[in-house]
Amino acid sequence: AKVAVLASGRGSNLAALLDARTRGELPVEFVLVGSDKATAGALRLAEAAGIATLALDPRSYADRRAFDLDLFERITDSGAEWLVLAGFMRILDGEALRPWAGRIINIHPSLLPKYRGLHTHRRALEAGDAEHGASVHFVTAELDGGPVIAQARLPIGAGDDEQSLAQRLLPLEHRLLPAVLAELAGGRLQWDGHGPRFDGRPL
Ligand code: GRF
Repeated sequence: AKVAVLASGRGSNLAALLDARTRGELPVEFVLVGSDKATAGALRLAEAAGIATLALDPRSYADRRAFDLDLFERITDSGAEWLVLAGFMRILDGEALRPWAGRIINIHPSLLPKYRGLHTHRRALEAGDAEHGASVHFVTAELDGGPVIAQARLPIGAGDDEQSLAQRLLPLEHRLLPAVLAELAGGRLQWDGHGPRFDGRPL
């Protein structure tokens, strides 16, 4: 299975995907890593791994849709069958997403449907939640709103602050995302038009 990844930052989730592949736990071929930031560490990781990279500058496009349509055209041209958003910090236009329904997943650092959007660790702390976590979900036009596939949970400690919580959550993200992608690319998880199904059984 051919997979493309989009990332805007350091790419620790991309690194987790590449490590899982190296360990033989994720039998996929990464065909492209794209970013909206030419300086993204994720692009450096991809280059070091010999994976084709793409950096598109949103400022070169008339509007959001023009950027997204060009980005998705390049992803399609790469031969990718699956698309993973791994720390990609842009909202994708619904029109551009349509052909990818059921083939695009995102990892979001909260226990969705709680805390869609940004600053999730801070919001969980401020709410006094007993636990926090990460979610991998199918991407739809609704920001962080697509059907949740799987989640990782961890207790919020009394001494936790935003930074410590983010740090403790990352290793869980790094196990969750490769595991879900392996199921998806392995054909054991599919989208039935409404939500995820494992081996044909509804979640
Ligand atoms: C991670 O917390 C991820 O859940 C969120 O962006 C953060 C950074 O990701 N989407 P990465 O280290 O760039 O993979």
